[in-house]
Parts: sequence; C-alpha cells; structure tokens
Amino acid sequence: MLKILFASSEVQPLMKTGGLADVSGALPVALKNLRHDVRIIMPAYGDIFKKTKRAQRIAALDLPGIAGEISILKKKLPGTSVDVYLVDYPPAFQRSGNPYVNSEGQPWRDNAERFALFCRSVCEVAQDRAGLNWLPDVVHCNDWQTGLAPALLQSETARPATVFTIHNLAYQGLFPREIFDVLGLPDQLWSPEALEFHNQLSFIKGGIVFADRINTVSPRYAREIQTAEFGYGLEGLLKHRGNKLSGILNGIDDMAWNPADDPHLKSTYSIETIAQKKPNKPALQAAFDLPVNPDVLLLGFIGRLVGQKGIDLIISLIPQLDNLPVQLIVLGAGDHKLERTLEELASQHSATIKCHIGYDETLSHQIEAGCDVFLMPSRFEPCGLNQLYSLRYGAIPIVNNVGGLADSVTDVDEQHSNLDIATGFIMKQTSGTALYNQIVKAIDMYQDQNKWSRLIRNGMSRDFSWTPSAADYVSLYESALLDQSHASKP
Ligand code: ADP
Ligand code: GLC
Repeated sequence: MLKILFASSEVQPLMKTGGLADVSGALPVALKNLRHDVRIIMPAYGDIFKKTKRAQRIAALDLPGIAGEISILKKKLPGTSVDVYLVDYPPAFQRSGNPYVNSEGQPWRDNAERFALFCRSVCEVAQDRAGLNWLPDVVHCNDWQTGLAPALLQSETARPATVFTIHNLAYQGLFPREIFDVLGLPDQLWSPEALEFHNQLSFIKGGIVFADRINTVSPRYAREIQTAEFGYGLEGLLKHRGNKLSGILNGIDDMAWNPADDPHLKSTYSIETIAQKKPNKPALQAAFDLPVNPDVLLLGFIGRLVGQKGIDLIISLIPQLDNLPVQLIVLGAGDHKLERTLEELASQHSATIKCHIGYDETLSHQIEAGCDVFLMPSRFEPCGLNQLYSLRYGAIPIVNNVGGLADSVTDVDEQHSNLDIATGFIMKQTSGTALYNQIVKAIDMYQDQNKWSRLIRNGMSRDFSWTPSAADYVSLYESALLDQSHASKP
C-alpha cells in the first residue's frame, strides 16, 4: 500500500474549470479502490462552502513571511471515502468565482503568491510538519499551480518521491523576475537549470525539472511536447528529461458519466438497451428550439471557448453547414469575442445552429446523449475527456489528429473495412476543410444505419474506466520511489 498526497488546484465536485478537476476527482478514488492511502490537498476556495458543509479544522501552519495562520481543514470528497485537505488562508482563497481569473477574465493579480503559498503548504504536509502524523511516500502534483512543490521538496534531506503531471503545457505559470524575490524562493532556484525561463519565473519548470517522474495525460502528447510545434520552448528540457517522461491516458468517472444511470437524461440506456437512446435526440432538439427531425445529423460541441479547442474551425464552417443535412449545438464559455461571434452566427442561422454560452453540467450530459456526432477539432489536446464521454454515450466523435484524441479514437478507414473496431472520424490536418470533409463522411455513413450503429456499439463497448490507468499511475509512483531512493543515496 502506498501513501499518496495528491495536490491539485481543482477537484470535482468541489471546484472545476476543466478536465483537471474531473481527473482530480476520479483518479484518487480509483487509487483508493486499489487499496492505496490517497489524500487530496487543494486550496479552500470560498465557493466550496456554498455547496458543502464547512470542514473540520485539523491543523495550523505558520510559514515565514506569511501574515497570520494557515489552517488545514479536512473533509471527505463528496460521495467517497477519500480525505481532502483544504489549505485555508482567506486572503488568498476566500473569493468567489473562477480560481484563476477575475470576472473580467484577467488573472488574479496575486496568483503567484496564492499558488506559492499552496505549494509551500503542500510541502509542509508532505514532510509531516503540519502535525497530521502522516508521511506520504509520494506527492503527486498536477499542473503549474503545484509546480513549486517538487522544486522546494528536492532540497529536503529526506522527502517523499515526487510525480508531476502535465495536463496542459499551454498554461505555465509565468511571472516577472521581481516575483521570484517577492516569494522569497531560495536563490539557487533562479537559474535556467531551475525556475528561470527567459528571465521569467516559471512555476511549471519546478515540476518538469525537479520531479522524480513526469507524465502527461496521453502517450501521444508526451511525444508531441518534445517537439517545437507543441513544446512552447520547453521541448529541449522535456527531451532532456525524456527518460523520466511518459504518458498515461485519462480514464473517466464512469459513475458520473453513465448513460444507464444518468439523472440528467430524458431516457437512460446502455449498450444492451440502445433503442432507449433515441428519445434523447428529439428532446435535445426541442430544448434548443431546433426543428425536431430524426434525419438530420445532430452535431454537438462542449468546451472552453479558447484557441486550443479549434472552435474557430467550427465557426469558419458555419455558413456551409446551412447546405448540409445537419444541426449544430454549441455549449461553452471563455473568450468573450468568440462567445459574441457564436451568438451572432446562431441568430443568423437559427434553424441550424444554437449556442448556449455558459457552464452547464446538465446540458453537457444531455448533449452527449442526444447528439449523433461530437466535434472536437482541437489544435492540441493533452487528453480530452469529452471524446471519451461521447464514446460512452454513443455520440460519434470527429476529432483532430492530435494528443489524446488520436490515442482514444479509431478512425473509420476509406474502404469501411475496419468497422469491427472503428469508433469515429479523424481529421487529416488542422483546418476547416479537413473538419468539413469528416462531417460529410459522417453524413454519408449516417445514411446506412447498420454501419452507424456498429460505430456506436464499438465506442460504447470500449473500457475507459480509471482502473487500468490508475494501475499505470501506481507503477509510475513505484518508479518515482526507485529514482528518489537512488537520488538520495550519497
Ligand atoms: P479541458 O480540461 O482542456 O477544458 P477536457 O476535455 O479535458 O478539456 O475537459 C473539459 C471538461 O469540462 C469536461 O468535463 C467538459 O464536459 C467540461 N466542460 C467544459 N466546458 C463546459 C461547459 N460550458 N459546460 C459544462 N461542462 C463543460
Ligand atoms: C487539460 C487538457 C485536457 C485534459 C485535461 C485533464 O485541461 O487540456 O486535454 O483532458 O487537462 O487531464
């Protein structure tokens, strides 16, 4: 049995902005089911206590340079037996809304201070200096918000092994040089071999340089980030650490995303009762005020409205969609300009396109169940969860040929000779035309309901539960422990 401290800045259902929360809410549970002692640590955002009962205060930390006390609160991850430690420091975390940006979409001005405080607290708990009487074997850090923890832990004479997971290299936690001094970080960390990145302070480098093991959320993305196209200038460093870098495809929370038992659906269904999927499409069309028509191909998109997701490729196609037997539903929030463009296009093409700007959990389930096709033309995608939800719900994914999308979808070949295994359609390049071509192919195949239902069945019978990936994480922790024990030998 391993003792694992799992550090993340968002954890479903306590706080979520994207897939990191889904992973942080599900992987620890899967590890616990494999009988490991896993405890989550995250910031105590004010909004958490709007949804759940206040937690019990179990410890206090006094960190040099921090005015007042930091409390460690404890509660169970709702619906599970996994303990969550909440780092409670009201000046940093007691504010409503998004954990990273203010209501204007601008990063909170004190993000470096907030997440440095979080990382220092993670280290105190990891070194059992918070009085919790628990010493983890492994600290598993996720994304830049936790990047300083491996950097700070490496100077301890005895310490747990560290694993750093890159969920998205596009977000690196870069701050001006002065912030390094403000944070009072050890001088030796200011160097290109440590946290310095082109004269800026890089949180993510803390994880990449110092963790015993690094991984990304799909094998393909682990290879991609070692190239200039996807590496954001970190490709050299990632290549250098290549023998410590691997990829593990995310699983999905198959309790929360289970079409056979999904309270949000008009009609629940499974692979054995697939006919019961049918009522979800007209229900969705009606809910979005689209003509209720079983013959058109209903396309869906759910996601953050940012460049990564290739929403601009979808937008570029909208005028052409009017001439095809399709309808499109978009659910998303993000870039205000993209939000406005989508709303305008939806009003101009109101018989084919509808969009809902905002974040809506219920609608996201209804779209997965009601759509025929799910569009995910991301320019890059470390893993992506919605294509996995789509496969489970029988919405055929059309995806770009990148990262976790390429690792999780099997393309229908030209001759339709692989219909025993194919699960979706893969774009041949990143362009509106490539996306259009795959939509046309899907329309074509949809005419043959026999072939179409084979695709649905192939996807629905794939296993995307966390169990195999959680076992891969356990092997990764074991490798990290081995590396750490070698590193600490004189
Ligand atoms: P990323 O983490 O890059 O945003 P993922 O595909 O890994 O992408 O995960 C996104 C998660 O956020 C999924 O669970 C998806 O359903 C959810 N999501 C994104 N946007 C919305 C939205 N507007 N409404 C509801 N859920 C959303
Ligand atoms: C990131 C990535 C996404 C991935 C998620 C969870 O936000 O953009 O591809 O699925 O993290 O790992």
